[in-house]
Amino acid sequence: MPEPVSFTLNGTSITVETSPETPLLWVLRESLGLTGTKYGCGVGSCGACTVHLDGAPIRSCLYPVASVAGKAVVTIEGLAPSDDLHPVQQAWIAESVAQCGYCQSGQIMAAAALLAATPDPSDEQIAEAMSGNLCRCGTYPAVRRAIKLAAGGTGA
Ligand code: FES
Ligand code: FES
Repeated sequence: MPEPVSFTLNGTSITVETSPETPLLWVLRESLGLTGTKYGCGVGSCGACTVHLDGAPIRSCLYPVASVAGKAVVTIEGLAPSDDLHPVQQAWIAESVAQCGYCQSGQIMAAAALLAATPDPSDEQIAEAMSGNLCRCGTYPAVRRAIKLAAGGTGA
């Protein structure tokens, strides 16, 4: 039975009418048309569906939409506060990270959350924070360089 669920999405308060157990990922993609967040595995194992919930990276395929009621969700579409690109997105371009691109919004959201919490992460902190975001194209070295670039390092 559909019920209203209200939360903040990319800075705007919204209410969706849906079954409360519908995964947030489906609401974002199917109900709201925000298809930047990708469906990979559906079971929390790939990271393609990563969004921010109150600033923390989450797997949106695992969260019933009712569980985000009253909270703040940010997707790749809302990562940058204006029409500019987020520094992580700029670093991604500078390092030509993307290959097929499918995993990339999840990678960027995970990286942005890491840098918000840890502005100058070590290699170990990067590895730990990004370990749940899989890339079948093997962009891992470029992801690491881009995170270091966004953090203000050389990217090397
Ligand atoms: S689709 Fe959510 S972790 Fe894979
Ligand atoms: S860029 Fe193709 S899966 Fe990561």
